[in-house]
Amino acid sequence: MELPAGFKFCGGCGKPIADSAPPAPDPVGETRATRTPARTPIVSMTGETQAHSGTRLGADERRTVTILFADISGFTAMSEKLDPEVVQEIMDHAFERLTAVITGYGGTIDKYIGDAVMALFGAPVALGDDPERAVRAGLGMQQVMSEYAEELKRLRGFGLAMRVGVNTGKVIWGRVGGAGEKTFTVMGDAVNLASRLEHAAPLGGVLIGEATQRHVRTRFSLEALEPIQVKGKADLQRVYSVLGEVAAPARATMMGPKSPFVGRDEEMAEITAAIVAIRKGAAGVVTTIEATPGSGKSRMVLEVRHEAEEHDVKTLAARSAPFGHGSPFAPWGDMIDRAAGLAGIAPGAARHKIRAWLEETAPETGADPRWFDELTNVADTSDPEVQRRRESPAQFRQNLREAVVTWLWAYTKRRPIVFFAEDLHWWPAPSLELLANAAQVARKAPLLLIATRRPVPLAIDWPPEATDRVMSLGSLDEGALQALAHGVLGAEVPKGLVKRLVTSSGGNPFFAEELVQAFIDTGALRTSPDRSGWIWDEAKAEHANLPTTVEGVTQARIDALPVRERHVLQMAAVAGRTFWQGLIEAMGETEASDALRQLSARDLVHGRRSRLAGEIEYAFKHATIQTVAYENHLKRERVADHRRVAEWLEARAGADPEFAPTISEHYLRAEEKAKALPYLLRSAEEQVRALVPLDQASDVELAVQISEALGEDPSRAKSLRMRGRLRRINGHKGAEDDLRSALETGTRLDDSEIIASAGIELSGVYYERGELALAETTAQKTLTVARQGSHRRIETFALRVLGIVAKSRGDYDSASAKYSAALLVAESLSDQPLLGSLLTNVGNLRLAMEDFKGAADSFARALEMNVSPENGAILHSNLAAAEIELAEIPSALKNLDAAVDLATKIGKIIVVVEATIRRGTALVRAGKIEGGISHLESGIQMARERHFVEPLLEGLLSLGRVQRDRDVKAALAALTEAKDLAQNRGDVNSLRRIEAALAGLE
Ligand SMILES: Nc1ncnc2c1ncn2[C@@H]1O[C@H](COP(=O)(O)OP(=O)(O)OP(=O)(O)O)[C@@H](O)[C@H]1O
Ligand SMILES: [Mg+2]
Repeated sequence: MELPAGFKFCGGCGKPIADSAPPAPDPVGETRATRTPARTPIVSMTGETQAHSGTRLGADERRTVTILFADISGFTAMSEKLDPEVVQEIMDHAFERLTAVITGYGGTIDKYIGDAVMALFGAPVALGDDPERAVRAGLGMQQVMSEYAEELKRLRGFGLAMRVGVNTGKVIWGRVGGAGEKTFTVMGDAVNLASRLEHAAPLGGVLIGEATQRHVRTRFSLEALEPIQVKGKADLQRVYSVLGEVAAPARATMMGPKSPFVGRDEEMAEITAAIVAIRKGAAGVVTTIEATPGSGKSRMVLEVRHEAEEHDVKTLAARSAPFGHGSPFAPWGDMIDRAAGLAGIAPGAARHKIRAWLEETAPETGADPRWFDELTNVADTSDPEVQRRRESPAQFRQNLREAVVTWLWAYTKRRPIVFFAEDLHWWPAPSLELLANAAQVARKAPLLLIATRRPVPLAIDWPPEATDRVMSLGSLDEGALQALAHGVLGAEVPKGLVKRLVTSSGGNPFFAEELVQAFIDTGALRTSPDRSGWIWDEAKAEHANLPTTVEGVTQARIDALPVRERHVLQMAAVAGRTFWQGLIEAMGETEASDALRQLSARDLVHGRRSRLAGEIEYAFKHATIQTVAYENHLKRERVADHRRVAEWLEARAGADPEFAPTISEHYLRAEEKAKALPYLLRSAEEQVRALVPLDQASDVELAVQISEALGEDPSRAKSLRMRGRLRRINGHKGAEDDLRSALETGTRLDDSEIIASAGIELSGVYYERGELALAETTAQKTLTVARQGSHRRIETFALRVLGIVAKSRGDYDSASAKYSAALLVAESLSDQPLLGSLLTNVGNLRLAMEDFKGAADSFARALEMNVSPENGAILHSNLAAAEIELAEIPSALKNLDAAVDLATKIGKIIVVVEATIRRGTALVRAGKIEGGISHLESGIQMARERHFVEPLLEGLLSLGRVQRDRDVKAALAALTEAKDLAQNRGDVNSLRRIEAALAGLE
């Protein structure tokens, strides 16, 4: 078998590969009688022997690892009695089993040395709880070994035994050997000590050093043995024999909770019932868990997730980061990120994965993947369709909603889903809005939506009708608190502690956990001498005088930390709820990795999947811990530290829009306004794109203020234009001022892009206000500037505004001329979507001109452009409207079929309703009166229910007209309803037609 140099294991089966290199000096300094050739080390690795072997380490790294040595004894005696081949077979067998245990606990085999094996935990990757894993592996190996020894005894009449030594410490980790070699190993005193521990270990035992002991003492019962002397060390080294695991709670991974889940039986039963129901295909419910910080919302989510997994129900989770202002769709992005597996990959690759994920979750929905690109911030901005969509935020959000809802529909049709929307109190408004829409799906499909929130106001009201059930999490009773403490301690809970928890924690699980930890830190709780349980010291507990709030207790815990850990925690708090080890190192704590491990062992932080490639990411276990640690950090140092965070992030993720809000936030806190500004503008852009309500578009507002304060004119103009746009959409009076001011600044700077983009917006303001003359002159000016600066797209927009203005004046010829000019430009840009939308304008103009042939031509041409499914649906339906007038009924009916098809796929209900009504009209025209009326009636009914005013008007008018000669009462009813509607809307055009139909009836 051909293997790359340095590979010691078969890539297929993971078994060690025989190596033919000559035996190297024994690394542990002792010569054995025999060795198994198959496991001769490639090179040796400890400091002692490095000099002899002449190997060099390359690409070194200092890191903390846990080293495990295991040595099989009885080997010499056996090899004297047996044939070397049999010896080899027995040893191979033993090592195969031992290796499986080591790798099972996440360890890596460093090498086999004769009858010994050396394994590493924490290199090449740290798993966060490496010492614990190593000790468990040691115990497991002894277990396996004793079983094997039994077997051998039976078969051959003699057994084997093993010693295990484990030590944790700093080592140099790097590449060994010459140019061709690629073997990684470790060197350092910690390795020597591990080897010494193994020699000193009792047969069948696991001996650990002091550093390891510190990490694992709450998890295992340990016995201190006689200290040992180690070569090169003046002091005696303390050693501990591992007796076994402390009666341990069911505890999962490093990120899993430390305490068993207690006291939420009713809530869980209710949710489990809902899971079972959707599993059977029933519709889901929307449950909002509303409870105070630390009462267990996140924990409920975790438990429900396990429950769902057990029922083979898929789960999805959308979460929000609490720090600063996030991007408008951050929670949704987070959901897709995780579901599609986008962590740390480039936008191009991410788009690819999103498509694969959509194909997998909801094939044939027709939901345009570009909407999902938008949610995850990886949209391809060179795509004209993407640009076009971003130009009309209202439409953008509407279509985005449709796409997400459609996708969710289709997905839940294939399989039941539990969707967690976590921490709504941190969700930006647009994300909440999207969620309220998604919630509708739960009423009709097997979708169980579980939202969590603190009892505080949300960015927008989570509409009461959007939730079926509000669940609160009450306080835990004494029994539950005791069970919880039992989980944390892993042994029986002293009575005094339980009493304390009941009186002090208020039944809040987070508070209770913190209190237990604080009692350990202050010595009020300590392990019994035999390490089998805990001793409660009432006097010390009294003396510790722990505060009565969660914040206070957290503070006490932080105060009790060793200086370095406390400092690392404070710097992490500056970075945010999540942070990176590399960042903390860059902030001056070069030994951060150790401290972070300790903090993680203390359950203050935990590792998480990193959003930055190659960086180890952590998160505070609870927001309270971050807040308290942040408050502790000296104010005067905060400024400098925020700057470090900003610079570090800027260097790594400056181009990633996801990080723009965070970077700007840190620069602002670092009092570096100028540096914050570009990032602020970017996150402001996101807010505008997502149409964040004006009073929440804090970044837009800040961008205006800061650019004004700095006299940064180009940024000022840009941000004013953005605010103007938002104000316009929100019907705010200040829109005009903002846009004019942006326009003036742009003119002064001679920046045609700003002039054109602000101008087009301003003409829109005037048009909407009915000031057609102003709209026209502004669009005209914009057109000139856009032409001079060759902003071709803006040129078409200006022409379109001019066309629309002319049309509303009834100047159809002029409108037609403007549209034609716009079409020419769009053609030269070969921008099909733009062409498609302009042709739609043209078609509508022709309809108004009652040039039905022309209208039909335009709509048909527009359909040939690469239009989106939603535009396609509208175009088919409009084309049918023209054809009905042309009495081309069969073709009209075909187009209506196509419209309904497309609209159903994308969930565009309004088009379905409109098409139903038009089908009614078409049938009536074809003489199929009964069928026609029944279509009209059902279309009207749907339109009423959904408040689709335009189709409703059209339907009522059409029904009124048919009924005129058949059922006067029905005709009157329909036309009167239509008249009221039209009057309410001030729709003169429709009113005129309704009056005409009513004439002679009343
Ligand atoms: N029922 C429970 N049984 C055991 N432990 C629990 C229970 N509920 C919560 N905990 C523990 O209490 C701590 C706080 O809970 P959690 O983080 O779920 O609170 P939360 O309500 O989400 O708070 P926040 O509003 O701050 O997000 C966690 O360590 C969690 O594991
Ligand atoms: Mg929580």
